[in-house]
Amino acid sequence: MKLTPDQRARRAEGTRAERTAMELLVTLGEVYGADSLIPITSAHVSGASYKIVGEAGLAFLEDFAETARVRVRTTVNPVGMDLQAWSEIGIPETYAARQRRIVEAYRRMGVEETWSCIPYQVGNRPTQGEHVAWAESSAAIFANAVLGARTNREGGPSALAAGITGWTPDYGLHREQARQPTVVISVGREIHGYEYALLGHHLGERLPGGVPYLRGPPPREDELKAFGAALATSSDITMYHWEGTTPEAAKVRTDGLEAEIVTQEDLEETRSGLMTAPGYDLVAFGCPQLSGAELEEVAELMAASRPTTPVWAFTSRAVAEAFPQPVARIRELGGRVLLDTCPEVMPLDRIARDVGSPSAKAAVYLPALSGQRVYLDDPTALVRRKR
Ligand code: F3S
Repeated sequence: MKLTPDQRARRAEGTRAERTAMELLVTLGEVYGADSLIPITSAHVSGASYKIVGEAGLAFLEDFAETARVRVRTTVNPVGMDLQAWSEIGIPETYAARQRRIVEAYRRMGVEETWSCIPYQVGNRPTQGEHVAWAESSAAIFANAVLGARTNREGGPSALAAGITGWTPDYGLHREQARQPTVVISVGREIHGYEYALLGHHLGERLPGGVPYLRGPPPREDELKAFGAALATSSDITMYHWEGTTPEAAKVRTDGLEAEIVTQEDLEETRSGLMTAPGYDLVAFGCPQLSGAELEEVAELMAASRPTTPVWAFTSRAVAEAFPQPVARIRELGGRVLLDTCPEVMPLDRIARDVGSPSAKAAVYLPALSGQRVYLDDPTALVRRKR
């Protein structure tokens, strides 16, 4: 790999963390055939929850923070608890203390304390053509497909290394070639809301990889968010095009590509394949974390049907501050709004074994991470169903 004089100097004479970061990026680039490191405008890091990274991750982050400082805007994924309301939901002090040490390590590195998997809805929203280095598969696919920014699906360490150096290896989705569609998918009928998550999960299971080009009615931003999160969970796919909607769809060529149709039966089969619970003790909204519009939808649903099952809504502190009304309304109606965290990376299994969710990603991760079971359904049905 050809490094610039500046990059060579940082690799040889940078701080201990910078030298480690440079080694990691150069090795990664060599593995994937990159011939240079390119500048990025932002990084997004995952690996901030104590539940997920444990003692080993905490030790690494504290050590790294001794000599690491980010050089570009760097945001970070949710932590393992609401940083203010943790004691109200039964998080033990020992866990909270360790989680706070992770927060402190990121703070020392200069990372923006977003604690959010939707950086693009809390101010870190790159524009078309910007090179970034984002971890968190749901955020990386959103950045590529919906914003037209360019990132590979980074892991936590490589995104952090990119944040503290300001560079990332130039391969994969940073290059035009890898962004070309490989298959055309027609959505056979109009779909709504959580069905986009079913569609994403179905496609990911169906396709080995590549870049799907979708034809169907234009989805809203939050529907694309749910679609991409599910697609990136059931596959390695980190880029797609949606005809008439996503920014690169108009300039790519689809002639000669294999075409497939997604049917109602496909979506129904996907839903039954993801169902692991016969019912649920708690409804968890927010995987990915909720936008302002989604918070409003939850508040309206709760007002309309006065749920008897507890409803927890997960979002970022920034979104909650920008949308105080639906937050207050959900709380008035007996729901909880939790900030900084998410259903998977906090110990939600202490509260409920069976969880109702409209998220296909939650339906994969809650069983895998915490042995929980998930009842997957439309938000309206989840809130309406009486115990
Ligand atoms: Fe976000 Fe947690 Fe889901 S980080 S995408 S809410 S697993």
